[in-house]
Amino acid sequence: MAILVTGGAGYIGSVTVELLVQRGERVIVLDNLGRGHRAALPEGVPFYRGEAGDRDLVARIAREHDLEACIHFAALAYVGESVEQPLRYYVNNSAQAMMLIESLLEAGVRQFVFSSTCAVYGEPETVPIPEDHPRRPANPYGWSKYFVEQVLESCDRAHGLRFVALRYFNAAGATDRCGEDHDPETHLIPNVLAVALGKLPFLPIFGHDYPTHDGTAVRDYIHVSDLADAHLRALVWLRQGGHSLFLNLGNGKGYSVLEVVRTAREVTGREIPTRWEARRPGDPSHLVADARRARRILGWEPRHPELASIIETAWRWRLAHPDGYPKDPAR
Ligand SMILES: NC(=O)c1ccc[n+]([C@@H]2O[C@H](COP(=O)([O-])OP(=O)(O)OC[C@H]3O[C@@H](n4cnc5c(N)ncnc54)[C@H](O)[C@@H]3O)[C@@H](O)[C@H]2O)c1
Repeated sequence: MAILVTGGAGYIGSVTVELLVQRGERVIVLDNLGRGHRAALPEGVPFYRGEAGDRDLVARIAREHDLEACIHFAALAYVGESVEQPLRYYVNNSAQAMMLIESLLEAGVRQFVFSSTCAVYGEPETVPIPEDHPRRPANPYGWSKYFVEQVLESCDRAHGLRFVALRYFNAAGATDRCGEDHDPETHLIPNVLAVALGKLPFLPIFGHDYPTHDGTAVRDYIHVSDLADAHLRALVWLRQGGHSLFLNLGNGKGYSVLEVVRTAREVTGREIPTRWEARRPGDPSHLVADARRARRILGWEPRHPELASIIETAWRWRLAHPDGYPKDPAR
């Protein structure tokens, strides 16, 4: 049986596809290549270019392959963009996810792993943030994911859809083959490394007056391979008949923007000039995971808990791919 991976040509999706293939799973990728790269996929993986919410296409994929489960990465994932273009986010992330789930249920697929996010929590009341923390998203991106979580719960009750909703904190790092290559890039570590490489003149730091130890925003960085491993474990959990779950994925340790810059200077040996900018709307001050539930239930243990080792893997990939992936002529 096969696993449908939507958004499998994207950053976290491609690393997960790589791991699934290594473990002998049959993988089918569906991606519109809006933000993904055909070159990020291993040779021989069946690829469909299209929308996750295209009912006819998903029905065709289900007819052509014996689908067991779906891992749904496909989404737009920029907080700032979601504040400016909320409808684009609700249509792409929420409405398309609903159509995908409907098509899967019609095809008899009842195991679903969902890329959720710590953005469902909004500005936290307690840090580290446990899964039962109130969900009060601070931006349309977080709401677009929270709606899907609600849909999944309803479909579990009504249709027996079993799901694992993985609320990732900040994905970072790379494997030897796959890394982070977005255009535009809004994530901190790839931008820090672009400055280190001389591709950007300086790093803008958004906000110096957050209520954190040095005034810059604090995030929990989790290695992309550790995220991929959690997806594999979630699949096994569902395969073994496990019930639906919401799980945080993070290292449980926060680093400020200034700490990331300092560590990147040490790892790269480069200067990395910075410039202060105003806060970005919708950015909470402090996001750190309490991920004990994922460790307990899935037996998940991050292999790259240290920021320096996460940045080292991203830097290695950047040096090997200074211009990112080869551009797909079809994009
Ligand atoms: N990167 C992070 O730190 C982070 C944190 C929390 C959650 N997430 C979630 O993880 C998932 C993957 O994130 P990423 O960083 O790899 O992003 P990405 O942009 O690299 O990957 C997303 C992929 O989905 C594809 N896509 C988007 N909308 C689609 C649609 N409607 N139909 C088909 N394909 C579509 C894109 O082309 C891209 O290849 C997203 O759902 C994101 O919201 C990411």
